[in-house]
Order: sequence, then C-alpha cells, then structure tokens
Amino acid sequence: QRELKGKDFLTLSDFSPEEIHWLLQHALDLKRMQQEGTPHPYLQGKVLGMIFEKPSTRTRVSFEVGMIQLGGQAIFLGKQDIQLSRGESMADTAKVLSRYVDGVMIRTFSHEGLEAFAQAATVPVINGLTDTHHPAQVMADLLTILEHKGRLQGLKLAYVGDGNNMAHSLLEGAVKVGMHIALATPQGYEPDPNIVEGAIQAAKATGSQVLITHDPLQAVHEADVVVTDVWASMGQEAEQAQRESVFQPYQVNTELCQHAKPDYIFLHCLPAHRGEEVTAEIIDGSHSVVFDEAENRLHAQKALLSALLG
Ligand code: CP
Ligand code: NVA
Repeated sequence: QRELKGKDFLTLSDFSPEEIHWLLQHALDLKRMQQEGTPHPYLQGKVLGMIFEKPSTRTRVSFEVGMIQLGGQAIFLGKQDIQLSRGESMADTAKVLSRYVDGVMIRTFSHEGLEAFAQAATVPVINGLTDTHHPAQVMADLLTILEHKGRLQGLKLAYVGDGNNMAHSLLEGAVKVGMHIALATPQGYEPDPNIVEGAIQAAKATGSQVLITHDPLQAVHEADVVVTDVWASMGQEAEQAQRESVFQPYQVNTELCQHAKPDYIFLHCLPAHRGEEVTAEIIDGSHSVVFDEAENRLHAQKALLSALLG
C-alpha cells in the first residue's frame, strides 16, 4: 500500500477503514507465508529501533522477531540504557535515531511524549503502547476476531473493565471496521470523552454502534467478543489495592459470560491476573483465544512494519 509508506502509526483514528482492512489482509498473507516456510524479506537491510520505558514481553519479542523474519534487524533500547533516562529530550532522541534507523517503535507513558517524538523524527514512528493508546495490540485483536468469526462488520464486542489504553484503541479500531462496541467501566474510570466522541463520529461512516455504560451485563448482552484488561496498568501500581475493590463487580467470569452469545470468544491482551479481571475458568476455558491473539501480534506487526518501512 503506497500511501502507508513513511507514515507514523500512533493511533487507529489516523487510519481509514480501507487501510485497516488492507493491513489485516496483508497480515493474513504474511502469516500464511511464514507457516508455509515461504521467505518474505520485504525489509532486507532495514533496522528498527525499539525504545521501552515500560516492561514488555509480547511487544518486544514480536517486533524483534517480526523484523528478523522480514529480513531486517531490531535494536532494543531500554530506557535505562539510553540518555533519555538522564533527561535528553524526546525530540533530540528522535532526531538522532532518525539518522541511524529506518523506523522507531516506542513504548512510553504520555501520549504527548510519543507525539513529540514523532513530530521530531524523520522516520516512521510506531506506538508500542502509551498510557492512552495501544493500537498495535488492537490490530492483532481484529486479526484474531476475523480469523475466528470470518468477519468483523456487524459483530458486537464487549469490553468490561478500565477505560484505559486498551479500551480507547478498541473503540477506535472497532468503529473503523463496522463492529458494534459496548464498554462497561466503573464510575470514575470511563474512557476519555474526546476519544469516545471521535469514535461516535467515525462510526457514522461504518454503521457501528457505540455504547458506554457502567453495567457489565448490558455490555456483554449478546456479545460475539468479550474483552477485558488489567485493573491497574503499568504506572498505576500504587492504586492496585483501591482498584481491586472498585473493579470487583467488573470481573469477567462464567456468570457474566452467560449473557454473551453461546459462541462468543474471549480476548485479553495479556499479561492477565487470574482471579482479578478474569477467572481462570474463562481465560483457560474453551471460549478463550488469548494465545492466538498473542501470536497474532507477530503477524499484525509484520504487516505494519512492511507497509510503513517497506
Ligand atoms: N499485550 C502486550 O502489549 O504485552 P507486553 O506488555 O508483554 O508487550
Ligand atoms: N493496560 C495495560 C496493557 C498492557 C499490555 C497497561 O497499560 O499496562
């Protein structure tokens, strides 16, 4: 896709439905090639810099393996190892890295920090998670739903839990592909109203319905896909105890999932906390596709990398 070359990938709201569908199709092609053992060195000689200001298992390994499978290489830049930890600015770091690498993936705290980095960089910048968005994860989630359900348009996705980065990116992603989305959060933990408003506007073009509620039963009612995420995200460790009591009624368990469609699938970006946001019965049960979802990080990101850096 010529128009994607050189672009940043910061939020899903920056991409058209056509671009998202194209990326998903490309991910399916890349997955098939990898499974058949067909080489696909679309990024021969290219190098991705990967800055991590927070821990990561899936994002780090899938981006790094993805670059290797595409014939390129990735460099891991932990915050403590680079001058960012001693106060060098996002902008200067971006300008310097742009002279060495062909693209940068960053996991950071503030979304504004990511935007400052992207503004100063002259190579494509990919969001590997901020406090408010996790679009690379949601590409993998859409891919997983598509594989298990055969379509996206018209399905109902229910997200139960914190109105956090996952909630925001799921909202932005669902409305681009015509999925209905219902988000149930406790009072005081709602998604950002600006992101909700943007999603409602985008939904007009695709026919998606957006429901924001405090009632988990209403959200999960007749859902095709049930999703949750941790109650305390990275950086919110101090709020863990307080969040555990507020979020208890939002646990995804067998009782709640009885309100979903009989063939619903369960997604969680991982890492998960069994007994908190989800019971073991659900995440380890027959409706759960969380490890397909984790695998799909690799295929979805290879599609992104080859489109933006190729
Ligand atoms: N889902 C996800 O982003 O996992 P990591 O934090 O392990 O990268
Ligand atoms: N909401 C979680 C997602 C982890 C992949 C966090 O930000 O920690």
